[in-house]
Amino acid sequence: MTKPASAKPSSASHISRRQFLTYGAGTAALLALPPAVAMNMSGMNMAGVHSKPSPLPKPVFSGALPIPPVYTGVMGRDKVREFHLHMAGGHSVLSDGLKTATWGYNGAVLGPALRIPRGQPLRLYVHNQLDQSTTTHWHGAHVPGTMDGGPQSLILPGKTWTYGYTIDQPEATLWYHPHPAGRTGPHVYGGLAGLYLVEDGTDRRLGLPHHWGIDDIPVIVQDRLLDAQGRLVYMPQAMDVMGMKGNRFLINGRESPILKAPAQWVRLRLLNASNARIYNFALSGDRAFYVIASDAGYLEAPVSVQRLLLAPAERAEILLDLRALAGKRLWLRSDSAAVVPGLSLHPMDSDHFDRSNFDLLEIHVGSATGSAGRLPDHLVPIPTLHADAPSRRFELRGMPMDKMSLAQRALETTLHNGPAQMSMGVGRQPLFSINNQYMNMKIINQRLRLGSTEIWEVYNDAEMAHTFHVHGTSFQILSCNGKAPPAYETGWKDTLLIRRTETIRFIAHYGQPAPDDFPYMYHCHMLEHEDNGMMGQFTVS
Ligand code: C2O
Ligand code: CU
Ligand code: CU
Repeated sequence: MTKPASAKPSSASHISRRQFLTYGAGTAALLALPPAVAMNMSGMNMAGVHSKPSPLPKPVFSGALPIPPVYTGVMGRDKVREFHLHMAGGHSVLSDGLKTATWGYNGAVLGPALRIPRGQPLRLYVHNQLDQSTTTHWHGAHVPGTMDGGPQSLILPGKTWTYGYTIDQPEATLWYHPHPAGRTGPHVYGGLAGLYLVEDGTDRRLGLPHHWGIDDIPVIVQDRLLDAQGRLVYMPQAMDVMGMKGNRFLINGRESPILKAPAQWVRLRLLNASNARIYNFALSGDRAFYVIASDAGYLEAPVSVQRLLLAPAERAEILLDLRALAGKRLWLRSDSAAVVPGLSLHPMDSDHFDRSNFDLLEIHVGSATGSAGRLPDHLVPIPTLHADAPSRRFELRGMPMDKMSLAQRALETTLHNGPAQMSMGVGRQPLFSINNQYMNMKIINQRLRLGSTEIWEVYNDAEMAHTFHVHGTSFQILSCNGKAPPAYETGWKDTLLIRRTETIRFIAHYGQPAPDDFPYMYHCHMLEHEDNGMMGQFTVS
């Protein structure tokens, strides 16, 4: 495990056995060959090797689940609550026994959970201490385009961007992450992401579990690939432009951790912060759980389910009934096999994990604490929206296999300036499109009227599933292929999964302004797709 290997996976000429095992035979073979040869052997040659990373030995759960600290900010003299976030590099133990160079906010990896009181003026200072420019976007927050942290809001190295706004939207678990053009994938993969908790007292009023880290547990799920030295490996091959997936599963920045939970109702705030992987969440024993919130707010009533599919950037809050389980163990897992392989026509889009059922988090149930939450019958009313503008249609396409050579060429000249010389992968290539257009920061694709309510219809014409995220608002899904969405998707959302050949209609109110120089984005949230064209811009004025 401590044997030295070459510095960059992409130029590896000596591959240790461990590294070979870590990447899997296919990838190791590719790494050892000149790019042109590797190119022919990769997934495009269907008869060739399968090049996705192989599974590691089944994880042994150990170590406590890290809980990101809550950051409430400090009240400034002018009655504005102030937050300081520093983006910088550090070292983390993502996996037991390995030290990994990572990037984080106010720490080595991930970031604090910001407690954002609804209706109070805020000021957020984001300091960029990295050696390259980036941005920070408040995913799901209803803030003006000038405060949204999109690709226009670049923070140069050593500089600070100051955001000032007041949040007025329902209590919800949002998140924040970088959003630079063409580099969102590697920046998030490097470790930059955190939770953003909009609070208005609803959870306390409803009696929901709300003791952070005790019965209210953040669960940020990410997959990563590490080399034998513990370094993050990003896009070792051009095929990963279809979606970078790893073979280690981190919860709050730690592989295979253990949560000690009380024997009472426990709330998990699930965030799929993976670059591209879809999880079909389940509990061991097919135990039922209750969905109480979707991306951007509570549902009207809890929905009992045994499976919950979450695509990248989607969130859900779930309640687990642990009251009768004192002394027992259970596992949060992904029953991927049941759904994920069917989402793409390309067999190589699914790896070993997508075709199996794997554990993510081990839960040890102890005894109850004094103050338990409950599962209410009713949560919150959700208003019905009425459109007052013509609807818009979006068609998702990508990517044609003959474009793989573009990705391959871009990968050969990519920078290696991520954490510990991690590759920056492929970005800004015209690979995935929306309405046959590739993201162009100089083009405003749609212009909306401030205060309007619109229905958008998204059709996925690609051979794989995509997601669709809209900045500056929350939406309600009206229909999926003409049918009502599942009950757990009937609340406020800002990101959706759209299967191939599916048409999804949703409605949203656009109540915040976004001018030409700071427009909002809509995009696929599979970060390698977003980085390579699948994004558009809109103004609201
Ligand atoms: Cu989570 Cu445009 O972002
Ligand atoms: Cu967003
Ligand atoms: Cu996509």
